[in-house]
Amino acid sequence: MGKTILQTTDLIKIFAEGTPLEVHALRGVNLAIGQGEIVAIMGPSGCGKTTLLNMIGGLDKPTSGRVIINNQEITDYSDKDITDFRKKNLSFIFQFFNLFEVLTAVENVSLPLLLRGEPTAEAQEKAKVILREVGIGSRLYNRPNEMSGGQRQRVAIARSLITNPKIVLADEPTGDLSSVISKDIMKLFRRLNEDLGQTFVLVTHSELIGSLCDRIIKMHDGLII
Ligand SMILES: Nc1ncnc2c1ncn2[C@@H]1O[C@H](COP(=O)(O)OP(=O)(O)OP(=O)(O)O)[C@@H](O)[C@H]1O
Ligand SMILES: [Mg+2]
Repeated sequence: MGKTILQTTDLIKIFAEGTPLEVHALRGVNLAIGQGEIVAIMGPSGCGKTTLLNMIGGLDKPTSGRVIINNQEITDYSDKDITDFRKKNLSFIFQFFNLFEVLTAVENVSLPLLLRGEPTAEAQEKAKVILREVGIGSRLYNRPNEMSGGQRQRVAIARSLITNPKIVLADEPTGDLSSVISKDIMKLFRRLNEDLGQTFVLVTHSELIGSLCDRIIKMHDGLII
């Protein structure tokens, strides 16, 4: 493993602390991920994978412990600083993808570039290229409600990759996809990883996806095992 890009120390997350419903979702997670690694996080339902991803991405604050990305401790950041940091460094692929129903695939995918001030024509050209790469070049001008679940998922993947984020955090990115399409998506991740040195952290239940990563981190009951 080369230079560490992402690290957690003694990360603890307790939900509903002090109530009878208290849940110890993370019980002291120590993790180091190298720049340019493609890592799978695996483990049974409820073991804390999504919670860990949310902490790493600054979407939720840990009860205690630290998250360090690019040598910056994000656990100390204000909400505004963390939002800026996320925009510059991170991208998410969620279990439940939020596409805009009124926009076509091309419009959905080009949106992050438009928000950065890129001209529409260029942004849409880039969107078309990446939509073809995820295998839905024939659905460029369809809206989400005209697409299958797997196609929508691939639009969401394309949208999260179009800004070339340094770190991609994905929760079940290929959850609903066939093994053939999953392999294609992994190939795309691998190519971006080789061309641009992007780091991928993928939460997955799929042995196939795990086998195509550089390393598998196994979790159980709030801990890495
Ligand atoms: N907002 C919340 N409030 C209370 N408990 C929560 C909350 N979010 C998660 N939990 C609990 O924390 C534990 C870890 O949940 P998490 O979502 O991280 O699991 P997971 O490994 O992602 O599971 P899955 O594979 O089913 O997605 C579970 O017991 C869950 O019920
Ligand atoms: Mg989860």
